[in-house]
Amino acid sequence: MTDRVAKGNRVVIAVDGPAGAGKGAVCRAVARELGLAYLETGAIYRALGLLTVREALADAQIVARATSMPFAYRAQDGGNFRAWLADEDVTEALRAETIGQAASRIAAMPAVRQALLSFQRLYGGQSHLILDGRDVGTIVWPDADLKIFLTASLQERASRRVRELQGMGKNASFSEVYAAMAERDHRDAGRSTAPLQAAEDAVLVDTTTLTLEESIKQVLHLVKNTLNQAEFTCRESLAGSR
Ligand code: DC
Repeated sequence: MTDRVAKGNRVVIAVDGPAGAGKGAVCRAVARELGLAYLETGAIYRALGLLTVREALADAQIVARATSMPFAYRAQDGGNFRAWLADEDVTEALRAETIGQAASRIAAMPAVRQALLSFQRLYGGQSHLILDGRDVGTIVWPDADLKIFLTASLQERASRRVRELQGMGKNASFSEVYAAMAERDHRDAGRSTAPLQAAEDAVLVDTTTLTLEESIKQVLHLVKNTLNQAEFTCRESLAGSR
């Protein structure tokens, strides 16, 4: 299996969940704390969404662009993670609601998902990796060492998004944000290819009543256990081979 070949001895942590559950903030903090490579897979779909909007691409062109887009995702000094299209830093541009909606629409196209798979599987080389998205524990890394389904109620996720937008000085109506999020949830969970769903062996973390710090603490605990277990297993097999 392609993903097994790429996985090698590294530890892979797959975090899935709906928009606004806090996946990005939690994974970034865990990656920084434990020195893991991190990939926000949503940024790949958003980058393609951005190109689709900018270049007014038709469906057939979107698939071709998925394989040819010059996308990169890199950690910078200080542990910030930035998304690039060639030499343009598109991190902020990708956050726009219109781009999120465009990403969700193109993500429902099976050929697009297929075209973006190998990037996600090869990312991070041999480093231990944490990645988040909608199908990373079910499709991208079905043999991940730890799968987490991070979620929160729609009401709470919409409230967080409104506070985030207000913090950026933007006008945000709760009912509009709530409706847009409900629409995206519906599309991401209802599509026939790789829908948003918890893997059978995922650990459920519901952050509805948790602060960000509490969510990070819970996930850190799970990830540390997995890394310790992997180290133990590796030591055992080294001892066994002597
Ligand atoms: O995680 P996000 O909100 O940045 O993702 C944007 C959209 O991309 C999301 O609505 C659905 C799609 N997506 C996906 O289909 N599969 C992933 N692994 C990640 C994102």
